[in-house]
Amino acid sequence: MTKQTDSIQWIGDTAGQLDLLDQTLLPTTLKRIECETVETVWEAIKMLRVRGAPAIGIAAAYGVIVGLQTVDDENETAFYERFDHVLTYLAESRPTAVNLFWALDRMRKCGQQQKESGSSLLATRSALLAEAVAIHEQDRQMCHAIGKHGVGLLEGVSGVLTHCNAGGLATAEYGTALSVFFTAQDEGHDLHVYVDETRPLLQGARLTAWELMQRKIPATLICDSMAAQVMREGRVQAVVTGADRIAANGDSANKIGTYSLAVLAKAHNIPFYIAAPSSTFDLSLPTGDGIPIEERDAIEITNGFGKQTAPDGVNVYNPAFDVTPADLIAAIITEKGVINPVNEANVRGMIGG
Ligand code: MRU
Repeated sequence: MTKQTDSIQWIGDTAGQLDLLDQTLLPTTLKRIECETVETVWEAIKMLRVRGAPAIGIAAAYGVIVGLQTVDDENETAFYERFDHVLTYLAESRPTAVNLFWALDRMRKCGQQQKESGSSLLATRSALLAEAVAIHEQDRQMCHAIGKHGVGLLEGVSGVLTHCNAGGLATAEYGTALSVFFTAQDEGHDLHVYVDETRPLLQGARLTAWELMQRKIPATLICDSMAAQVMREGRVQAVVTGADRIAANGDSANKIGTYSLAVLAKAHNIPFYIAAPSSTFDLSLPTGDGIPIEERDAIEITNGFGKQTAPDGVNVYNPAFDVTPADLIAAIITEKGVINPVNEANVRGMIGG
């Protein structure tokens, strides 16, 4: 059953709509937006109304159905031209999270199969919607499995640190890093979660702190720059974050600031874990050097949330992600099991390919 706080819902049949929780308004306003055009879906992904690697992929899959609603069921050529256009267009919304391309690739393959088997366009629409629903449902299952595999790593741990938001909002449900904490809670394990606020867009403060409070998990918000002190004081015994793209050797891209956390964790002898579904792995890239890093508008740094905090005309560099080298990652928690130690053989062995 869908809830008001679900990040993504599909309403209706192939003529239906994509309904998103506008994450830019959290934690103060719970407002849903109905995406009736593929342009609205693109804008929602670009502007982080829907965000988090798995959620972007799910939204884009439904976005294909929305994009096809402008063509009728009479003209196969026009239908498949529009299909190609919509897939290309949605792929240009954000560059780093590979889940976007993974989901669009599944949609492309599904459409191609329908075409090759001579299906009617009506049947093709239904098959595409079924594929988007499957992507959504499989993510839900993968997130729950990640929690179950990861919880064993937290034995004897009372304090954990996380960065950005890798929770239910960023996925179909339950999250990846937060799934590990939620599963620990379900099993009666008391955890205190330290939450990096995550400059510049504050996904930690606005979203993760909110999700943890909804679930009554003890949480303490800190500025990103406080992580070293929190570690030094012995408040956390593990760090768990999500990922946006993981290369074949285990190098992992995640929200900017994750790499520095991993370096700090190493300096304090604290294990640093990544939690991510197999849809976040990009085995075509041998290392993280090939991961495209999104650069976002300077205004997010100079005028965050409507207040000018830097001089007019200042130079700004705003990469939205960084890459944590595999050797700083103690283990990667996936829905298939835990990759430990993190190296290419173990990544390929677990994920396949
Ligand atoms: O820019 P965002 O908010 O989409 O970045 C999200 C992250 O970096 C998450 O940690 C990652 O996507 C994993 S979500 C399960």
